[in-house]
Amino acid sequence: MPENERYSRKGASFAITAYLRQLLSTKAPFQKWLKGDDNGMTEQQKKGAVLFFGKAGCNGCHYEKNLGSMKFEALGVDDLYEHGGLKTGPNDRRNLGRGGFTYNAEDMFKFRTPQLYNVGDAGPYFHGGSMETLEDVVKYFNTGIKQNQRVPDQQLSTFIRPLGLSDEEVADLTEFIKNGLRDPDLNRYKPKSVLSGMCFPNNDPASKIDMGCK
Ligand code: HEC
Repeated sequence: MPENERYSRKGASFAITAYLRQLLSTKAPFQKWLKGDDNGMTEQQKKGAVLFFGKAGCNGCHYEKNLGSMKFEALGVDDLYEHGGLKTGPNDRRNLGRGGFTYNAEDMFKFRTPQLYNVGDAGPYFHGGSMETLEDVVKYFNTGIKQNQRVPDQQLSTFIRPLGLSDEEVADLTEFIKNGLRDPDLNRYKPKSVLSGMCFPNNDPASKIDMGCK
């Protein structure tokens, strides 16, 4: 990329994309188990997995290989401005989810189903950051009562209804997502060098000195 185009939104998007591409979760306990290692998951994680793909019905939307999907659904959760988001407010069109981009009535308040690997390290949760922990997320689904009154009931996913999980089942399902889907080492793909020849992962002159980059 020519230097005058480099420090742009496009350049930043390329850099972030390149970075995200090397964050590959492939050795989470669930993935080890899928590859045939019966002891890859703990007993509690196995119970949580059975709930995820059974009674709790999470795989109704989280069904692709990365446990996300292209399914857009309204879960009725709060928006970012209600949880400390900067430069946003009740009229922010992003509160409408996909509908804020397509303006189609059927897309209003619907968000894409995100992937779930290593999600335990990436709170707070949902588009508005309205849940602090994965346990809060599971409890939200289990209670099945919408948080955001601006989301009309007819848009709300039919999945938002009480699931009837016991406290123990909530704990098992939480453990499955939190640790069963967590690859503990996402650093193993750290490249030895990058095309720009710059010090990885830091191109800031002052911190390069601090980090001892050549
Ligand atoms: C009806 C489809 C659907 C079902 C069923 C569903 N989810 Fe989701 N899930 C979504 C969507 C859509 C989002 C993003 C919603 C938003 O941000 O407004 C989401 C978000 C999440 C998040 C937050 C991810 C993040 O990075 O913020 C977690 C964790 C999660 N779901 C776990 C579960 C679990 C556990 C279950 C089963 C109890 C479940 N989901 C069932 C569609 C679904």
